[in-house]
Amino acid sequence: MASETKDYSRYFDFSDAVVSEDERGKRIRIGGREIFIMSEPNYRRERQRGKEEVRVLYEEAVPEELRSFGKGKKYLIQTYGCQMNEHDTEVMKGLFEQMGFEWTDERREADVILLNTCAVRENAEDKVFGELGHLKSLKLEKPELVLGVCGCMSQEESVVARILQKYAYVDLVFGTHNIHRLPVLLRDAYFGKEMVIEVWSKEGDIIENLPKKREGMRAWVNIMYGCDKFCTYCIVPYTRGKERSRLPEDVIAEVRELARQGYREITLLGQNVNAYGKDFTDRDYRFADLMADLSKIDIPRIRFTTSHPRDFDDRLIEVLARRGNLVEHIHLPVQSGSTEILKRMGRKYTRESYLELVRKIKAAIPDVVLTTDIIVGFPGETEEQFEETLSLVREVGFDSAFTFIYSPRAGTPAAEMEDNVPMDVKKERLIRLNELVAELSKRANEKLRGQVVEVLVEGRSKNNPNVLSGRTRTNKLVHFEGPAEWIGSFVHVRVTDPQTWYIKAEPVRQETGAVS
Ligand code: 5AD
Ligand code: SF4
Repeated sequence: MASETKDYSRYFDFSDAVVSEDERGKRIRIGGREIFIMSEPNYRRERQRGKEEVRVLYEEAVPEELRSFGKGKKYLIQTYGCQMNEHDTEVMKGLFEQMGFEWTDERREADVILLNTCAVRENAEDKVFGELGHLKSLKLEKPELVLGVCGCMSQEESVVARILQKYAYVDLVFGTHNIHRLPVLLRDAYFGKEMVIEVWSKEGDIIENLPKKREGMRAWVNIMYGCDKFCTYCIVPYTRGKERSRLPEDVIAEVRELARQGYREITLLGQNVNAYGKDFTDRDYRFADLMADLSKIDIPRIRFTTSHPRDFDDRLIEVLARRGNLVEHIHLPVQSGSTEILKRMGRKYTRESYLELVRKIKAAIPDVVLTTDIIVGFPGETEEQFEETLSLVREVGFDSAFTFIYSPRAGTPAAEMEDNVPMDVKKERLIRLNELVAELSKRANEKLRGQVVEVLVEGRSKNNPNVLSGRTRTNKLVHFEGPAEWIGSFVHVRVTDPQTWYIKAEPVRQETGAVS
């Protein structure tokens, strides 16, 4: 499949298919389908990091004349990938609803279906192409359906080329930098017969004031966009552009408003939250300062994801150690336990410096729960190097980990590296690693037996409606019996039966800690 994806990028030159061109864009025709390309992805430009200033714009994203455009129409967004994508979907939902659209879960009822895609690994991409294949018959039955692709995959040259060639029934392709343009693009796709493509290969300005449709009691808050780390395996710096931090006053105002609305927990989002503020030219204000300011707001729990070990500084550790609403859980992706592999991954830290950081964090926050991301089977990874990962995982004692087999991403440096590790060896390493992670997770949960923990009750368990489900400050999943009225409140429970991936518990006293 990797070679198939690569092949398409070679065919991105559609110059013989151009029908007309003006300052708005160019029209091309492929297999009878007209396509209007306003702008297209370009890896070379995505890789560049310029000094241009990023402006912060406070805009009305839905023009007055489009406010009732969606009246009587329904939309559906299928979201793949990380929390950043989930949150982008919340923004798009906000935009749709300001246009008068109504959400539906039922594809056959939808007038617009968007796939908000993920490019981080090949299997995520395969799922989307599979889904587009399934949607073909619906589109044939219902030609007026607007079918759109957005998110990280749209930022890839090879993906857009493949859509043009094989999935020409798609109506709209836009990227991660121009979500705020959704209303206008949707109108163009609706009224025109042609496929509309607008993918910016350069990140634009930060747009504030976009509507967001959040659900539940936990909210995501973006604090920065993009990534400048360029780990050699990772596509994100290309698909999400350069690091741009939101202004602290905008983040603080948003969190205050969420507190006022009664949200119980917020998660600060960024590809590399520890780089927050590095791009400010007018002030010296970093992630630790933001956390210190947010900790004063009356919201019970604040989390963040994802942090890069390289920029995790002492001041941040000191602020987190004050606790309060800053929870004692840190997701700290390590990726590998071998200094040699880390070097080739471009991670800019060593096994030793990672372990030293962990030591400092544990000294300041002794009951901290650490979780991580690990890639196995990076090009050329030897058995010994993999065993270094196992030993690091054991030494740190992670409570859980997201583990992945390395997936080559076209356009990244690692995709050009020679890889002599057979797939069955990679799979076997993943199994060994997962067994170790399960063992550690079970052991960590076992330590909680008999203890009382605070749980934010999120809803009913999927498998048993009499059982409630929630999370501890350390993000552990807890199941216990209780009335539905507790949903949305904090309850203290005693751990009775720890499992590997969740904890069974019983409420201590009904009134304890229950916040209404
Ligand atoms: N192959 C496998 N895993 C990857 N990740 C990022 N890029 C790749 C890739 N090319 C993993 C990293 C990252 C997580 C979000 O996804 O572990 O932390
Ligand atoms: Fe990708 Fe590395 Fe940036 Fe994380 S820090 S998004 S792994 S490039």
